[in-house]
Amino acid sequence: MPDKKGYDPFSARLGILISGRGSNLQSIIDAVATGALDASIAVVISNRPDALGLQRARDARIDALYLDPRDYPDRDAYDRAIAERLRGRGVTLVCLAGFMRLVGQPLLDAFPLRILNVHPSLLPAFPGLDAQRQALDHGACVTGATVHLVSSDLDGGPIVLQAAVPLHDDDTVESLSARILEQEHRLLPQAVGLMAEGRVKVVGRRTVTTGPRH
Ligand code: GRF
Repeated sequence: MPDKKGYDPFSARLGILISGRGSNLQSIIDAVATGALDASIAVVISNRPDALGLQRARDARIDALYLDPRDYPDRDAYDRAIAERLRGRGVTLVCLAGFMRLVGQPLLDAFPLRILNVHPSLLPAFPGLDAQRQALDHGACVTGATVHLVSSDLDGGPIVLQAAVPLHDDDTVESLSARILEQEHRLLPQAVGLMAEGRVKVVGRRTVTTGPRH
């Protein structure tokens, strides 16, 4: 039910899916810890046993699970297993924070328009893997970071927030990635906040926010 300001908030219990370092996960952990983000993290799930993000979650006393895709007959079965773990913990919003797997229909159906992904380019430019390398190889002058809702179209769902990052002549994948990452860490908690405040509406393939987006 929308409030006086036209916002339609929900209690954000986050399920965060990771595959590696987990610096975006950390940005959410930190934003929750400082009170900048009004949300709780119900569970972190990794498809890789050695993901540093699992340790970050455990250090923050967050339930952290490794689910091995090889334990499931196919992708749908794996996605169903993830959806079950998330639902079992009352998750209301899912974040893909460096989760290097395609999300299939069972997970999309379990959380319709409630899955956010962070991607290191200004989508729709440079979708898929190695977005920073793609921007450098293409000779782009500007790239950036995008947080979007996940749909069945790879990196193609409605955009929630973006930030531009200029390329420098002497950039390497590493230097560019580091500058983009700063923006990812700013945008992802902010997008979670916008969603939780019930301020993001999907209209066609766009999102419209009630009140200021940034
Ligand atoms: C980020 O650049 C994210 O955009 C991409 O993978 C990277 C994950 O980094 N999908 P981290 O694991 O959050 O540190």
